[in-house]
Amino acid sequence: MLTTDTFFGGAPEVNASAPGRVNLLGEHTDYNDGFMLPAATPQRTLVAMSRSGDDHFHFYSPTFDATVTFARDGSAPQGYGSYIEGCIRLVQAEGIEVPPLRIYVETNLPVGSGLSSSAALEVATLRALRSLLGFELDDVRLAQIAQRAEIEYAHVNCGIMDQMASSLADQETMLFIDARSLEHRLVPLPPDAEVIVIDSGVARKLAASKYNERRAECEEAARKLGVPALRDVTDPGSVESLPSPLRERARHVVQENLRVLEAAGGVSAERFGELMDASHFSLRDDYEVSIPELDELCAALRAAPGVLGARLTGAGFGGACVALCRAGQAQEAAAIALAAYNKHGRQGRILVPVPTDRKDNNESV
Ligand code: GLA
Repeated sequence: MLTTDTFFGGAPEVNASAPGRVNLLGEHTDYNDGFMLPAATPQRTLVAMSRSGDDHFHFYSPTFDATVTFARDGSAPQGYGSYIEGCIRLVQAEGIEVPPLRIYVETNLPVGSGLSSSAALEVATLRALRSLLGFELDDVRLAQIAQRAEIEYAHVNCGIMDQMASSLADQETMLFIDARSLEHRLVPLPPDAEVIVIDSGVARKLAASKYNERRAECEEAARKLGVPALRDVTDPGSVESLPSPLRERARHVVQENLRVLEAAGGVSAERFGELMDASHFSLRDDYEVSIPELDELCAALRAAPGVLGARLTGAGFGGACVALCRAGQAQEAAAIALAAYNKHGRQGRILVPVPTDRKDNNESV
């Protein structure tokens, strides 16, 4: 494995980093032009960058232990290199000259746990490019380019939440996002509460095909209701006239938006927890993106002392759950929930707060 010193033959010209995201509330609402409340993860992705001085791009990641090399006008093979190449090509498409580069990527974000390591990689890459080449790019526009890189180069038809969160959120607050206008503001976490995130140990399966299917169902539901997007439904009862499963899909989106708007207005920690539980049940029953392991993990969390609410976070079909706990009770609640959940040979583990024995990984990031 190479270090930055050996890869660059000295110090890189620039370093940048970006966090992943954990979504507290507002799932599958972004591509319906709706609302959400993510926060940044403590884990980050680091991108170090220098001009390569030859005619090739060279990427290296100790995390993936993989080198990617391609000519100035060539392209990266599918893999982590596609996300980086997407960012480079889209910056070039903005009229900015990008020379061949050496890029080193290191992350302590778990990949495939639903904390959006891909958005962190895109945002960190764009930050490094901005700092190396000195062009103007505000943080919202940066998120938009990051999203396009994911759609056009990694072929994942995602919404804008993850990239907005990685670009603009922090760990101490939630970022309220309006996915249509991209207006955003920081909103305090519920008072006297803390967040825990636990990986179910189940990698996301079927996520891409089911994600696209849900998107198509939402678009059809909006068409049948005669609105541009489900965000525009003003009478929540109107979705009941739709045929199944469009009715259930639309019901989830409309109610989830209402939950986010209520929470963003400022609610007690207890109420926030109730809204998280309601979100999970709606994702399980109406949106059908949960799996038994996520349901069990959330139930184990809810049963632990001090937990106010729990839900799957991210797209679903595996990945992680997020719970809100009374301040000071998170570690103990997580340990109790994991003891119950892992009984049957499952591989659940705490992701946030970062367990102290795992902090050695990438402290410098
Ligand atoms: C994935 C996508 C996001 C969003 C969530 C579900 O994380 O990348 O854009 O749609 O799923 O809320």
